Amino acid sequence: MEKKFKRTLITSALPYANGPVHIGHLAGVYVPADIYARYLRLKGEEVMFVGGSDEHGVPITIRARKEGVTPQDIVDRYHKIIKDSFEELGITFDVYGRTTSETHRKTASEFFRTLYDKGEFVEKTSEQLYDEEAGEFLADRYVVGTCPHCGNENAYGDQCEACGTSLSATDLINPRSALSGSTPVLKATSHWYLPLDKWEPTLRKWILDDHQEWRPNVYGQCKSWLDMGLQPRAVSRDLKWGIPVPVEGAEGKVLYVWFDAPIGYISNTIDADPEGWEKWWKDPDTRMLHFIGKDNIVFHCIVFPAMLMAHGGYNLPDNVPANEFLNLEDKKISTSRNWAVWLHEYLRELPGKQDVLRYVLTANAPEAKDNNFTWKDFQARNNNELVAILGNFVNRAIVLTHKYFGGVFPPQGELQEVDLNLIEQIRTLKGELTEALDTFHFREALRVAMDMARAGNKYLQETEPWKLAKTDMARTATILNIAIQTCANLAIVFEPFMPFMSARLLKMLNGDKISWDMIGCFDLVPSGAEIGAPELLFEKIEDSVVEAQVQKLKEAEKQNLLEQWKPAEVKEEVDFPTFEKMDIRVGKVLECKKVPKADKLLQFRIDDGMGGRTIVSGIAKFYAPADLVGKEVCFIANFAPRKLKGVMSEGMILSAEDADGRLVVIGPTGEVRPGSSVG
Ligand code: 2FM
Ligand code: ZN
Repeated sequence: MEKKFKRTLITSALPYANGPVHIGHLAGVYVPADIYARYLRLKGEEVMFVGGSDEHGVPITIRARKEGVTPQDIVDRYHKIIKDSFEELGITFDVYGRTTSETHRKTASEFFRTLYDKGEFVEKTSEQLYDEEAGEFLADRYVVGTCPHCGNENAYGDQCEACGTSLSATDLINPRSALSGSTPVLKATSHWYLPLDKWEPTLRKWILDDHQEWRPNVYGQCKSWLDMGLQPRAVSRDLKWGIPVPVEGAEGKVLYVWFDAPIGYISNTIDADPEGWEKWWKDPDTRMLHFIGKDNIVFHCIVFPAMLMAHGGYNLPDNVPANEFLNLEDKKISTSRNWAVWLHEYLRELPGKQDVLRYVLTANAPEAKDNNFTWKDFQARNNNELVAILGNFVNRAIVLTHKYFGGVFPPQGELQEVDLNLIEQIRTLKGELTEALDTFHFREALRVAMDMARAGNKYLQETEPWKLAKTDMARTATILNIAIQTCANLAIVFEPFMPFMSARLLKMLNGDKISWDMIGCFDLVPSGAEIGAPELLFEKIEDSVVEAQVQKLKEAEKQNLLEQWKPAEVKEEVDFPTFEKMDIRVGKVLECKKVPKADKLLQFRIDDGMGGRTIVSGIAKFYAPADLVGKEVCFIANFAPRKLKGVMSEGMILSAEDADGRLVVIGPTGEVRPGSSVG
C-alpha cells in the first residue's frame, strides 16, 4: 500500500549564481517542479517549494578574477537576475534563498560539526598542487598544462576542452598556475572525507530494493555508481571562497560546494519557516522530492542521502524525478559557447509569452531521454496548438455567449447525449491527467490537458450553436452553458502548466477560487453570471519573430567563436631546402563534379600547364560544383597520388577555414599562368 503523507517538501536544484538560467535549466528542473507544486496546492495539500542560488564553488571565483571583481559581486549580480526572472516566469517558490546567507553559513557549519563530532569523517592527507608565488593551493580549474591525451597545451586541470577528456590536475604535462603562471609544486594538505563506502550497503537497499519506482534513468545511474563501488569523498577544499571549515586549525579550508549546496535546501526552509522547519525535514509524514537535472543525480541520490543518514534524524528523499538534457536547435546547450536561450532575455524579447515557453518546454520535456528545442517547433506549437485549439475554443465559447446572450451566462436545459459524452470525456481525462501528474509524467499530463481542449472544440463543431441560434434558443443556451463550463474546467486543468492564461480565463469567467476537485464539474459558473469581454488568450507568432531568434543565436555563437579563436601554434621550424621540397603550383579549374556516393568530395579537372590532372578534394559541403569552374587555385603538385572513393587524386587543393568553420579555397590575387610555381 502506498504511504499517505501529510505534506510535501519540493526542492529544486540551486542554480550556480555565476550566470543567468537558460531553457535547459527550466525544462529540466524548474518548470516541472513548479507544475507539481501548483498541482499539489490545487489539491489543497500542504506544500513547501524550495529554491535558491548556489553561490559557492570555483567557477564563481574564476569569473570574478576574469572580471576583476569579487566573488560576492558576481553572486549578487546573478542571484538577482535569476530570482527576478524565475518570478516573472511564474515559478512559485515559497522561498528563494542563497548559500551566502547567514542562516546557511550557520546551518551548514553545524551540519558539518555534527558529523565531525560523531566521527563520521575520515581525515586524510594527500599531495595537491600548490602555487608558491601566490601562496595558495590550486583547484583543478586553476591549473593549466598539456593534455596527456591530445597534446593540447591549454588543457585545464579538470578537463581538456579540446578532446573532452576528464583530467586530474596532476595528469597534466608541464602544469602551470593560472594565478601566477608559475610551475606549481606538490604540497601535502589534509582534508575531511565522507566515507561513502560505509553507507554503500544501506544505500543499496534503500535505492535498489525500496525505490524501484524511480525513473529508469535515475535508478540506472544509481545502480551503476553502486556497482562500481563507492569511495570516500572529500568534503573540504583549500579555497578562500566558501564556508570556513568549523574546526580549529582548519584555516584556509572551506566546505566543498557540493557539501554545502544541498544543505541550502534546509537553510532556505529555515528562513521560510523558522519555527516549523523541522516538520518539513524530520517528520516521517513529510514527503521530500528533489527536482534536478541528470548531472546532479549522484549528489542527490547518493551523497546527500549519505550525509543525512550520517547526521541522523532527517528524512530521505521519497523520489528524485531527474530529467535528461534539452538540446537547442539540435546542438548541446553550451554556456561557454553562448549557445542558449537565456530566460531573462526571452522575457524581455517576447514579453507576455511566459506561458508559451512553459508550454513548449513541458511538451518537449526531456523526461526519458534528451530532447530538442527549436524555434520552429516553438512557433508551430504556439500557432497550431495554443492558438488553434485552446485559444480558439475558449474564444468561440465566449464570443458566442456575448453574441446570443449579451454576455449573461445562460442556464443549462435538459442534457442530450452529445453533452453527456463531453462531460464523461472530461471526467475520464481528469483521471488520466491526475495519474500522469502523480507519477511525474508532465509531458503526458499536458497532452491529456490539451485533449480536453480538443474535446471542447469538437463539441462546438458537432453542436453548431451558431446554426441552432436561429431556431432553438433554449438548446443554444444549454450548449453554450456546457461550453463555458468546459472553459472553466480548462482554467483549472491548465493552471499548473500555464498560470497566466488560466488567471486571465478565470477573470473572463468571473471565477476566483479553484481546486483540483472541481475538474469534471459542470456547475462551476452560475447561470446569470456576467461573462467578461472576450480577450484572445494567445496570438499567432510570425515567421520573422522566430527567424530573428535563430539569427541571434547564430550571431552570438559566431561572436563567441571569434573572441575565443586563436591561430594554431606555429609548427616546428623548417629550412629552405625542406620548404623547397613542397611543390606548390597554380592551376585553373576546367571541370568539377560530385563524386558519387561521397557527400564530402568534389572531383576537379585542373589545367596544370602540363596536360591536366585530376584532384579530389573534401570541400563539397562548402562549394557547389559550378562555383569554382574557371577559377585559379593553389595545389600541391608533388603530393603522393591516392585513391579516394575509387578516383585517383593527383595532388591537393589548398584551403583555409573561415570564421564559420567553412573551407575557403586559396588562389592567386592576380592572373597567373596555369602551372606557375608558388614560392
Ligand atoms: O549543478 C548545479 O547547477 C548545482 N549548482 C546544483 C546544486 S543542487 C543542490 F545541491 F543545491
Ligand atoms: Zn586533450
